[in-house]
Amino acid sequence: MQVKVAIGTIAFMLTMIVLGYAALREPARLDESTGAFVGRSIETGGQIFDANCATCHGVNGQAEECYDAGSGEAIPCKGLPLNSYFLVCGEPSQRIVDLGWEGTKFQYIERTVSSGRSGTLMPAWLDQFGGPLRPDQIKNVTLFILNWGDEEFCAQEPSSFAWPDTVDEFMAMDDVQAGDPEAGADVYLNLGCNACHGMPDQEGSNAVGPWLGDIAETGATRVEGQSAMEYVYHSILDPNAFIAPDCPTGPCTDPSLMPGDFAFRMSTNPQDMADILSYLMGE
Ligand code: HEC
Ligand code: HEC
Repeated sequence: MQVKVAIGTIAFMLTMIVLGYAALREPARLDESTGAFVGRSIETGGQIFDANCATCHGVNGQAEECYDAGSGEAIPCKGLPLNSYFLVCGEPSQRIVDLGWEGTKFQYIERTVSSGRSGTLMPAWLDQFGGPLRPDQIKNVTLFILNWGDEEFCAQEPSSFAWPDTVDEFMAMDDVQAGDPEAGADVYLNLGCNACHGMPDQEGSNAVGPWLGDIAETGATRVEGQSAMEYVYHSILDPNAFIAPDCPTGPCTDPSLMPGDFAFRMSTNPQDMADILSYLMGE
């Protein structure tokens, strides 16, 4: 009798241990399956990106290398870089703070992709707004974009060249040569200024920001005491320092729609600044 009780007790305890272990494992198993689910979403999102977005936002979302979807020929990138520290790192990320967006970066990207950006080349993608993608596909591509901001990528904030306070001091630096307007025209396209400002030699070609074809004159009238060149230098480094009055769709919004990361993006080659200034000053 006593033996039976003992066996019963041991069996009961063993059952509890097995059940308890299974219960403890349960959250871990759930995590693994959500992980796998997110992994699949990102993978699908990557396919959606390559098929629909890379023509404008570039291979790997870097807006550096773009190919025509039909012919496969290399073309200039028309979209902004999305694989960018300022868009995908931190919550809220710097881009979202600069735009005064109230919400998460996920919501910002999901919304922008869904409804597009009117007045720009960025189309609406959600079926409900006439686009080709379902809500779950928009979510997948959003997860894919945010996945660029992994721990390693976000661990190091890009460091900026120490831009001097005035354009004269900048131009006087030992490493900076007199600007080359032809090289400046390439920089203008490579950095995607044309996506918003159009081409300086085509009045009215601007979609989002002011036309820059006459900035050599109007620039001198913006901020008391600043020459046109000084003004453009500061406009590029810190778009919110002064908000231009007129944008193609009405008064320019504050905060500025212009990305605030050119100070970083031009850090790898500050000569680009001298070149783009000479291009815009029509020298
Ligand atoms: C025809 C060119 C084009 C295509 C194709 C395109 N975009 Fe864009 N996209 C743009 C342009 C131009 C902008 C900048 C809009 C502006 O001036 O505010 C932009 C902006 C964005 C932004 C906001 C970036 C920021 O920093 O504010 C996101 C996110 C984005 N696009 C995602 C996508 C995704 C995802 C796809 C594919 C489903 C896509 N885009 C396809 C041209 C394009
Ligand atoms: C995503 C759109 C966008 C891109 C890309 C962009 N800008 Fe802008 N930019 C704007 C908007 C909107 C304004 C007006 C609001 C303001 O003053 O910041 C502006 C303002 C300016 C001004 C002041 C214009 C005036 O009439 O006072 C200059 C100069 C300028 N941008 C130069 C550039 C250059 C150079 C580039 C590329 C390196 C660039 N922008 C890229 C949107 C953009």
